Amino acid sequence: MTILVTGGAGFIGSNFIAYERRVHPEDRILCVDALTYAGNMENLAPFMDDPLFRFVKADIADRQAIYALFEEEKPDIVVNFAAETHVDRSVHDPEVFLRTNMMGTQVLMDACRKYGIQRYHQVSTDEVYGDLPLDEPDLFFTEETPLHTSSPYSASKASADLMVLAYHRTFGLPVSITRCSNNYGPYQFPEKLIPLMISRALKDQTLPVYGTGENVRDWLFVDDHCSAIDLVMRKGRVGEVYNVGGHNERTNLEVVKTILRELNKPESLITFVTDRPGHDRRYAIDPAKIHGELGWLPETKFDDGIRATIRWYLDNVGWLERIIAGEYQDYYEKMYAGR
Ligand code: NAD
Ligand code: TYD
Repeated sequence: MTILVTGGAGFIGSNFIAYERRVHPEDRILCVDALTYAGNMENLAPFMDDPLFRFVKADIADRQAIYALFEEEKPDIVVNFAAETHVDRSVHDPEVFLRTNMMGTQVLMDACRKYGIQRYHQVSTDEVYGDLPLDEPDLFFTEETPLHTSSPYSASKASADLMVLAYHRTFGLPVSITRCSNNYGPYQFPEKLIPLMISRALKDQTLPVYGTGENVRDWLFVDDHCSAIDLVMRKGRVGEVYNVGGHNERTNLEVVKTILRELNKPESLITFVTDRPGHDRRYAIDPAKIHGELGWLPETKFDDGIRATIRWYLDNVGWLERIIAGEYQDYYEKMYAGR
């Protein structure tokens, strides 16, 4: 079976490819990535000599390129990770979020309709539900929670979700969607909270916490997200949405303090800065559906996962430095052009 993984040079996509090679070594992985600022070929280095892996540099919104690839490869499953993903960037420049997250999704699904597919899986986010209040800890997002987005990022992801469900209802496309909470782990681009704070703390730079640091995120170790996607795309019911999260809620301030403690750095590095506009207060997932139907449970506790993640960044300072210096973007030309 050939699985087309879009956005596989990014954080979760590259972890997912590693997961698939480990757990389903018989399946072939075809990775498509446009290599935007968030795409890093170094993340794919372990697979480049693997005969059951192929990388193609392409934009999912480029209809011609995507159709040509489907014509050639006829993938059995498509898993769409490719997206613009940073809320702060979407506040500054929403347009590319609409192009990739909405139009790109549509192009992929049109290709699936044209060439046939066993399953189209959309990797979505809990941010489509908006936020929860801080003072009602018993409230969680279920699959029935109304979509109520805050940022251009979450609005573009919610629009894509609606289009995915419309392609199922209108055209009978065999789709599924997972909506996951915040991920952390190896290979996360250092613009997101956890890797940003690790990389700055290592250099004794100030750690910019938005607002009061009271906002709550429900953190999931990336491998647990990968196992959930794998289960849903293979065994989940067609046309269904599954929430993914592990009851690991922490305030941003708690997360930052944990990182400082693990790195033996002083809390005086914390600096409270102007809040993000429209900043969502709390995300929290109820994973009862995926647990009940598919038996999924997260395996990694936050305290273990954050330690493993910090260890990975300490062991891979070069990876971090090449991103900060911008050198990672030359990697494709140097290592893989013409392959
Ligand atoms: P990321 O920003 O690390 O990676 C995104 C990847 O997509 C990059 O490799 C980039 O080059 C590629 N890409 C961007 N635009 C493209 C285009 N037009 N065509 C082809 N490739 C393109 O993102 P991530 O954190 O790995 O997130 C992956 C997916 O998971 C996204 O859809 C995101 O919405 C979703 N998600 C992320 C989280 C999280 O905490 N990171 C949580 C829930 C859901
Ligand atoms: P982020 O990693 O951008 O993920 P998301 O906004 O998709 O949840 O941010 C996680 C939380 O950390 C969010 O509440 C915003 C906050 N944050 C900071 O306080 N400082 C920062 O420098 C960043 C990037 C995020």
